[in-house]
Amino acid sequence: MLKELIHIVQQAGALLLTARGEKLDVTEKTGPRDLVTQYDTQIQEYLRSALMELLPEAGFLAEEAGFDRPDREKEWVFIVDPIDGTTNFIQGFQDCCVSVALAQRGAVRYGVVYAPFSQELYYAKQGEGAYLGGRRLSAPDRDLAHSLLLFGSGSYYRELVAPSLAIFSAAFPQVQDVRRFGSAALDLCYLAAGRAGVFYECRLCPWDYAAGSLIAREAGVNVTNLKGGELDLWAKDSVLAGTPAAYAAMKALTDRALAERSKT
Ligand code: IPD
Ligand code: CA
Repeated sequence: MLKELIHIVQQAGALLLTARGEKLDVTEKTGPRDLVTQYDTQIQEYLRSALMELLPEAGFLAEEAGFDRPDREKEWVFIVDPIDGTTNFIQGFQDCCVSVALAQRGAVRYGVVYAPFSQELYYAKQGEGAYLGGRRLSAPDRDLAHSLLLFGSGSYYRELVAPSLAIFSAAFPQVQDVRRFGSAALDLCYLAAGRAGVFYECRLCPWDYAAGSLIAREAGVNVTNLKGGELDLWAKDSVLAGTPAAYAAMKALTDRALAERSKT
């Protein structure tokens, strides 16, 4: 199964590369921060047909289909983001990827994330480790002071500006520095690869984090929502991830920042 998934995701990544030099058809979904291109749609359609041929009994949950077809009763479900980092893709930044997870009864069993511009291929099977190319990943556990903080700005949700910034203000003086790459799936893979120690975003969708969360966990990274609970695979959720020591410090700091805010 993993081999087949990798092949399909790499084919999808190759489609993304054909966009170089092509004119992009950009459509605003809910507004100028929420965009879709013809490549999001085409790649999702390719993935739907290839994945459903691979496992016809599985459900299919994907960004450009939304939550309307939940397929919740099915044992297996593919959770798919045809392009994570669509705004980067449109603006000409290279941090974007194809992200595919296969979950069984609410637990992610396989995750594949492929960034075609950098040709980085991340994958994991539950219980069998995470890999970048052929190299097994093990994220080094550093304290917060020696960790880069990655974050997502939850840009579609005005109501999340204040809590996102409250966490940022509390964390920024404690960490080595911050980075904002624009693809949550890749952020989680970057933690797995040991490039950064912590990541948070106040609201994401399952297709943003399903595959990346397994890859990060299999490399020794803790991944929860901001409350410390299991991530929801059927609804939007927050994400807090980090190597164990950095995660614990970040969780304590986040709890304090959000509690302070609720007093005001
Ligand atoms: C977005 C990216 C981004 C995150 C947004 C996501 P999209 O996904 O993962 O990093 O901050 O919240 O929606 O729209 O590029 O697939
Ligand atoms: Ca996404």
